[in-house]
Amino acid sequence: MKVIRTIQEMQEIVKQLKQNQKKVGFVPTMGYLHEGHTALIDQARNNNDIVIMSIFVNPLQFGPNEDFDKYPRDEMHDKQIAEDHGVDYLFLPTVDEMYPDQMGISMTATDRVNVLCGKSRPGHFSGVITVLTKLFHITQADDVYFGNKDAQQVAVVDQLISNLNFPVTLHMIPTVRESDGLAKSSRNVYLNGKERSEAVYLYHSLCLAQQKIFDGEKNPAIIVNEVKKYIQSNTSGTIDYVEILTFPTLQPIEEINQQFIIAVAVQFDKARLIDNFMMSADGKIDHIAL
Ligand code: PAF
Repeated sequence: MKVIRTIQEMQEIVKQLKQNQKKVGFVPTMGYLHEGHTALIDQARNNNDIVIMSIFVNPLQFGPNEDFDKYPRDEMHDKQIAEDHGVDYLFLPTVDEMYPDQMGISMTATDRVNVLCGKSRPGHFSGVITVLTKLFHITQADDVYFGNKDAQQVAVVDQLISNLNFPVTLHMIPTVRESDGLAKSSRNVYLNGKERSEAVYLYHSLCLAQQKIFDGEKNPAIIVNEVKKYIQSNTSGTIDYVEILTFPTLQPIEEINQQFIIAVAVQFDKARLIDNFMMSADGKIDHIAL
């Protein structure tokens, strides 16, 4: 595995790869890698000749009171994981390398961002699409891989790719969970012992929603209410949202009669956790095609 720190070197390598007709899979990350990330790498490895992974904690997608400075970082550990999973090129730019000057052109996501995390983290997805636009140009990827856990991110990236005609195929990979069901996340490291034992109730709350649907409940408002009550009585966290929406368009639905996503976000002391299930109208977990 080769570690690349400059855009110029990455672009020179990509030019060569393209001349040699190599199919490039790209896994953009912010590091502190866990099995959720390695599932993306493994899929990229299966589908492509070459796998590029980036690790870049992107300041543009953090709000002023968010955890940019404290976001967990561990370059040595990440390099080992990337190498073990067959990454060919690990792109590790600095903030100065990616943003040498104040950006003179700004990108704003306006659709699919007024719900869920986009509502409580204004500007977050504009930061995400800006960095991804740069990374898509730099890596010239054929395939790009994202986790289902960040479902709104997948929906916004889907729109970015189609609105700006990026010649890249988006792959959404199922959420990887701990043995008790908690979705793997770099931010789980912020949880104290009590919060870690409570965090699993996010997953259980989604299972409860699923059970309601199996029992014939069709009213999203009733399900959302039950899920909120359940999270409130089992955790010390503060609910940011519980929403039932279409996917990937993220529109509200009146009745459960189509594929949908139920998504939850809960703020613990230092960690804001998110999770979701994508389901068909009968409550079966579904992989919704983009
Ligand atoms: O999901 C993430 O880790 C980030 O939002 C991404 C896609 C790497 C962009 O900075």
